[in-house]
Amino acid sequence: MSPTTLVTGGTGLLGSQVVPLLRQAGHTVRVLSRHDREPGDGVEYVAVDLMTEEGLAKALDGVRTVLHLAGGPKGDDVATRNLVQAAERAGTVEHLVLISVIGADTVPVGYFARKAEAERIVAASRIPHTILRAAQFHDLTLKTVRAMAKAPVLLAPGGIRWQPVASGEVAARLAELTLGEPAGRVPDLAGPRVYTLEELQRSYLTAVGKRRMRFPVRVPGKVGKAYRSGANITLGEPTGSETWEQFLTAQTTSA
Ligand SMILES: NC(=O)c1ccc[n+]([C@@H]2O[C@H](COP(=O)([O-])OP(=O)(O)OC[C@H]3O[C@@H](n4cnc5c(N)ncnc54)[C@H](OP(=O)(O)O)[C@@H]3O)[C@@H](O)[C@H]2O)c1
Repeated sequence: MSPTTLVTGGTGLLGSQVVPLLRQAGHTVRVLSRHDREPGDGVEYVAVDLMTEEGLAKALDGVRTVLHLAGGPKGDDVATRNLVQAAERAGTVEHLVLISVIGADTVPVGYFARKAEAERIVAASRIPHTILRAAQFHDLTLKTVRAMAKAPVLLAPGGIRWQPVASGEVAARLAELTLGEPAGRVPDLAGPRVYTLEELQRSYLTAVGKRRMRFPVRVPGKVGKAYRSGANITLGEPTGSETWEQFLTAQTTSA
């Protein structure tokens, strides 16, 4: 049997697209999330909450590679520390791959700061590692503009730009990195075009046939300054190919 790869967050949007790629490459895959599932398609599932260390030693038993995708708005630093410490104790892990976010160390928002801390924990560990920073996924972009468009008046923060990327392309890159040798921090992965938030809002409204009165606002303080300076986007790096328009068309015509 091939050595086991543990995929934390393997049931999420990104993870559920990476796991089949690792299986196709012949890896034995164990998926970790907080909820138990019956094994299937050659994948076993373990229920562990990474906010505690309980159950982690067993989840890491016989694991050679860890792909750490589990995450959320809070606690990515704590979860990563627990995972890395347990992986060091396990002694069998030869490669840990972490997904992070573009702007982790420059956007002064809690989620980004916790991702930056997660990167530091991984980089400082004894385990050889690979870190990929990705831009916001198209899916999150859609969720964001859809939620903004629920209000009768559309808040339109000026000067904010996003560079959304297809989660499937991030999944493919992560599979490639997981199957490869530890590479440290690799080039960021963002989508092929930079959009103002206003462009994203407008294209969504057009696609769903809605009209909204716009109310321009300015995001204040350090956060606004960081976004306006482009801290969350990346230029001149390899990019994904699926555009926001392609994603939006597929989503709004299949709904
Ligand atoms: N979405 C984006 O635009 C974006 C951009 C860049 C980077 N990322 C990063 O990419 C990763 C995956 O994102 P995603 O969009 O696929 O997220 P998602 O769909 O919300 O999936 C999150 C996964 O993590 C698991 N999880 C969450 N908290 C956990 C905990 N305390 N212990 C164990 N498992 C836990 C969830 O399973 P259970 O709920 O069953 O526990 C689920 O499998 C995250 O680290 C995120 O920060 C996302």
